[in-house]
Amino acid sequence: PGKGDPNILNLPEWSTTLGMPVATRGYGMPSKYEAGLIRRQSPGLTQTAAASVSFSPLQGMFGIITASGLHFERHHQGWHDIDPTKHRFMINGLVKTPMVFTMDDLMRLPSVSRIHFIECGANTGMEWANVAVPTVQYTHGMLSCSEFTGVRLIDLLEMCGADLKKGRYLLAEGADGSSMTRTIPMELVESGEVLVAYGMNGEMIRPENGYPLRLVVPGVQGVSWVKWLRRVEVGDKPYGTKDEAVHYIDLMPDGMHRQYTSLQEVKSVITTPSGGQILLDKGFYNITGLAWSGRGKIVRVDVSTDGGVNWRQARLEQPVLPKALTRFNIDWVWDGKPAILQSRAVDETGHIQPSYGQLRKVRGTRSIYHNNAIQSWLVNENGEVSNVQVL
Ligand code: MTE
Repeated sequence: PGKGDPNILNLPEWSTTLGMPVATRGYGMPSKYEAGLIRRQSPGLTQTAAASVSFSPLQGMFGIITASGLHFERHHQGWHDIDPTKHRFMINGLVKTPMVFTMDDLMRLPSVSRIHFIECGANTGMEWANVAVPTVQYTHGMLSCSEFTGVRLIDLLEMCGADLKKGRYLLAEGADGSSMTRTIPMELVESGEVLVAYGMNGEMIRPENGYPLRLVVPGVQGVSWVKWLRRVEVGDKPYGTKDEAVHYIDLMPDGMHRQYTSLQEVKSVITTPSGGQILLDKGFYNITGLAWSGRGKIVRVDVSTDGGVNWRQARLEQPVLPKALTRFNIDWVWDGKPAILQSRAVDETGHIQPSYGQLRKVRGTRSIYHNNAIQSWLVNENGEVSNVQVL
């Protein structure tokens, strides 16, 4: 007597009292017990919090869709909650009829909904030369995946009579004060993939992510997904704006820069077990993670538990969509000895995620952007998991 589990022996409050009424919260919130699962900023990474980034807690997310409140944020000059009745979207440049759309105008038009990942080009950027941050939230958390709803940009360009022969480039401009503008090649738009989106995960896009309108450019680094989108200009050459000439370029080992490398290459990461977590005991674990490629679908993910000596093929969970996150899982029995966990993704174009050794041979160590190297997590005898690099 007295030795049983009190959680079974005693009836809890929630089995003996009346619960909360409906609509106590007009808009639902996560359980108070999940309060630790939040976006976080990296202390000391940036000078001001208005020109900064908050990272998604990948370690606590399931499936492939990012809860809207956990979507990472990257602002160059802070975010605003823009009055949609005052927001305008203009198309000008090499078009027959320049047009200005209100939100009401846009929401009358045929819409599509598509699931895509968005990854900042600077994701994993702190890790180029050595291990810098402890957890997957900070190594890979400039990454999210949502269902976006909006109008295809090509349809809007056709309404304006855009000159698709001469007008091979677009300039996209946001309504915030950052003057963050990006050149978008017309062939991406002609594919029908680029959206002028107002919806995210079944509701209006959140203010932090561009309410009421943002550009969705599947497969391309986040900076081109212009938020609070107010203007698209059709032009005949790349615009070479400050965010393409000075930022979001790749510093190569010979001191030269690569420009317009905006595609996000094939990449994956194990989210559990990952840095900062602790395995309680030896025995069975489900290794789970995410894989993605800006070139299309993921076709294969291999997982190693011995630092890349042996590899086993992981299960890809459905749905496997182009330019979206893909969830993978694989069984593992931990024998209590030190282990190094890695994942390596392959996409449908045959591109294979590189090791740090392979990537550094081409790219060096002084870059910020476009680090898609294989991530390694060390599990020590105490079950503590930490960030390490394996060449
Ligand atoms: N658009 C505007 N207008 N202003 C910005 O600061 N940041 C860009 C892009 N679009 C930005 C913007 C960058 S660098 C990224 S990575 C993505 O938005 C981030 O989108 P998110 O905040 O929804 O995650």
